Amino acid sequence: MVTTFEELLEKKTIFVDKTVLSPHYVPESMLFREKQLEEIMKTLTPALKGQKPRNIFLYGKTGTGKTSSIKYVLNHFNRQSQKSGSKTEMVYLNCSIYDSRYKILQKLMRPHYPELEKSGFGISYIYEKLVEKLGEDNHIIAVLDEMDMIKELSDLIYTFTRCNDEVKVGGLTLVGISNKLSFKNELDPRARSSLYENEVIFPPYDASQLKNILMQRIELGFQKESVSDAALSLISAITAQENGDARYSLKLLLKAGDVAESMGAMKIEENHVEEAKNLVEYDFASEGISRLPINHQIVLYTIAKMSIANKQKLTEGEDSYLFSGDVYDQYTKMARKVSKTPKSARWYREYINELEAMGLISTVFTSKGIRGHTRLIRIGHNPNDIIQIIEKNIGMRS
Ligand SMILES: Nc1ncnc2c1ncn2[C@@H]1O[C@H](COP(=O)(O)OP(=O)(O)OP(=O)(O)O)[C@@H](O)[C@H]1O
Ligand SMILES: [Mg+2]
Repeated sequence: MVTTFEELLEKKTIFVDKTVLSPHYVPESMLFREKQLEEIMKTLTPALKGQKPRNIFLYGKTGTGKTSSIKYVLNHFNRQSQKSGSKTEMVYLNCSIYDSRYKILQKLMRPHYPELEKSGFGISYIYEKLVEKLGEDNHIIAVLDEMDMIKELSDLIYTFTRCNDEVKVGGLTLVGISNKLSFKNELDPRARSSLYENEVIFPPYDASQLKNILMQRIELGFQKESVSDAALSLISAITAQENGDARYSLKLLLKAGDVAESMGAMKIEENHVEEAKNLVEYDFASEGISRLPINHQIVLYTIAKMSIANKQKLTEGEDSYLFSGDVYDQYTKMARKVSKTPKSARWYREYINELEAMGLISTVFTSKGIRGHTRLIRIGHNPNDIIQIIEKNIGMRS
């Protein structure tokens, strides 16, 4: 028989409110981030007194609370700004959407100049408007989240610097955010020194911190007593071991809840977590990879392809490591194939470090052997999955 709404409504559930487990939910208080929040707030306070704050850059691996911390600050900042009648506003932009100088300036100025809703205005027109706006003693704090996605970032930073030089009062402050270490080095030195006036680091969470973060959500999201302590400890331990990414632990908790429910249980136990882990893994790899800049994806794709080819050559039980130098050679070919200029070996090493930090690959250094000192690379996930994900992302065909 078909289910009725009545039945569905009456069905017992262990959840009270699933939205508090969503990655977009900003908690009432950010645990273990007092120091970072204070530093950001201190840096930005001059704007509320009509002075231009220094630029600030937030760095930390994925899921360390950068986005939620800045949204927390933004809410408080704008509330305070309104209260004290200040002409300062803080604006949040996700640069995977606003990924060029044009789109960013347009987004910042559109609320003030409705004519910009229409397209077709040149960059110099929008720039003039920006100077005009700031010249009325306005301060704008632009939060550029996932800043590594911006094309020609140095140009954008110069534009901002030039604009600040041009206005006598008012000013534009940048809050940049990224989880890519290599990003800093890819900027040219002038842009770098301007952006990195102040840096705030978000370290990964350990198991006990993750446990507390989860407890805060369990309180709001679940019925009382519906998560066993053993399950909670297991989620925290798995996450701490993987990468300390709070987003991963929340997803694991949510999925474990779904698994428990589907098995008719009213309490999440360890076996539900283990089952959920398999489900979360593919989703997670897919999301993580899709957020990577193109060159990281091409390197990872190359590694996946080579791992498969390598495996076919090996006999049962042999370890399938790749030589870093071979991967680089193949990467340069692969990049040209998708019409990208390959990056130098120096960048390539940074990409490898970051893919390793994300748990997508693992590497070891050897000092012995036929090739002397070399780095060996092994893929961390099913290579076929990775190929499928990346081919979908960037329309790459082998
Ligand atoms: N200290 C914390 N207290 C409570 N919740 C947290 C904390 N840190 C992170 N979270 C939660 O974990 C999830 C991921 O955090 P967030 O999106 O801020 O990470 P991020 O550092 O921006 O990651 P990425 O680099 O991948 O963008 C969010 O749901 C967030 O609410
Ligand atoms: Mg983020």
